[in-house]
Amino acid sequence: MMRSNCLIMIMLALLLSTPPCSAGGKSSIKEEFRLNMAVNSRKANEVATFALAEHNHISHANLRLSQILSCTKIYHTNQSGTFALLLLAKDEDNNYRLKKFFARVYQGNLFDYSKYQLQKFESRE
Ligand SMILES: *[C@@H]1O[C@H](CO)[C@@H](O)[C@H](O)[C@H]1NC(C)=O
Repeated sequence: MMRSNCLIMIMLALLLSTPPCSAGGKSSIKEEFRLNMAVNSRKANEVATFALAEHNHISHANLRLSQILSCTKIYHTNQSGTFALLLLAKDEDNNYRLKKFFARVYQGNLFDYSKYQLQKFESRE
């Protein structure tokens, strides 16, 4: 049951990822699909936790997730996705001050699905 569902998903993905029959390399038409995710969903939490851990690692910071304000997933035409998050985090190096941050996390397509990449992390006051 699980296996056949998975197969159908893969076939669907392959079908959808077939390039359109247009000549001349990169198309200028870029249709993307945006979806606002529930801030309390497991996925939103997973992406926010990743973004903070990655930022802490790269910047030697000590931010701790306090609240996810919004999480939008942008589905790209090539089957990959990007998450745009607004979140509140406590800065453990600064008296646990609560600050607002914007994070952008890229996630590959079906074939490298597990990999997240932090593309942007910045303060939003
Ligand atoms: C898919 O498209 C997005 C948006 O254009 C781009 O950032 C990303 O690198 C692409 N991914 C692949 C695997 O080509």
